Amino acid sequence: MGFISDQLIKWHKVSGRHDLPWQNTNDPYLIWLSEIMLQQTQVNTVLAYFKKFIKRFPDIDTLANAKTERIFELWSGLGYYARARNLHKTAIIVSQNYNGKFPSSFDTLLSFPGIGRSTAGAISAFAFKKKKPILDGNVKRVFSRYFGIREWTGEHSVEKKLWEVATVNLPKKSAHIHIYTQALMDLGATICKRSTPLCNNCPLQSKCISFKKNWVKEIPISKPKKALLTKEIFLLAIDSNAHYLVKKKPSKGVWAGLWSLPEVKNYKNSSNWLEENLNENNFKVIWIGKHKTSFTHYKLNIHFQHILLHSSKLHKIDNYKWIKKSNLKKTALPTPINKILASLNSG
Ligand code: ADE
Repeated sequence: MGFISDQLIKWHKVSGRHDLPWQNTNDPYLIWLSEIMLQQTQVNTVLAYFKKFIKRFPDIDTLANAKTERIFELWSGLGYYARARNLHKTAIIVSQNYNGKFPSSFDTLLSFPGIGRSTAGAISAFAFKKKKPILDGNVKRVFSRYFGIREWTGEHSVEKKLWEVATVNLPKKSAHIHIYTQALMDLGATICKRSTPLCNNCPLQSKCISFKKNWVKEIPISKPKKALLTKEIFLLAIDSNAHYLVKKKPSKGVWAGLWSLPEVKNYKNSSNWLEENLNENNFKVIWIGKHKTSFTHYKLNIHFQHILLHSSKLHKIDNYKWIKKSNLKKTALPTPINKILASLNSG
């Protein structure tokens, strides 16, 4: 142990960021404010907002006494307004219940609106020199790459593993915790970047598993795609006198307004369907097949039967029509149906 923190602390002296406006202070108000702003916004954007904000609200009591609307006005452009709302709530709690003085207890910080485990860790490290780990998106990437963790970090078990890693790799001395924490953030933002990381400038390169195994591009692993449900449908390609029977789909839903094939619950129902709708019991199933397709939220297996009617009578039914095989191309059919009928025709 100790390699990561030793390297990062050394590296930070030479290559880290030292003059951000929320550094070189241990005022918890300024540190808390910056950490909230930095939760979903990059340093470059935050800089101007932070300066504007502390000019207007120089201390927590001023912020607590402000109208939420005024806070929103200054927040406009940063987005994620829940942050501003929570900022105000926390300011009121600290102002009213803690005499305007930020408590140093990690658990108390964690209980405040808008402060999660990583933000509470950062405030504890920067303002109170407490040895607490942080784990924001950048830090997850640094540790996943360094330890070669090829799993999606949004998974609870992976996140748990990363918190353990973040905890055991803290520097030994709490006097260095603020430098280490800032270094970890700076490394993630400037060296171990998501795309085109600068591995040759990285102080952790010699022990980085991803660098050794050439996994840097693979990590972070993106969120796994959900396995799609598969739906099975059974369609009838009823063939009579060189025509197929097609049905108009409703104006809402899949294939809205297009012409599809008659659908049955399963093939046991085919003869009933023909009997009930076409008054036909003299037919022959000349082909069965399956066509696979997929939509955004599910896969669709289309089972189809090619049924040849013995009689060449074209029965009229509401919402259905008979289309000539030679007119298939001119009919508004969904692509899979087009393909299925084309395959039957050519066979
Ligand atoms: N991102 C989150 N906190 C930060 C900080 N204190 N400095 C730079 N980037 C950060």
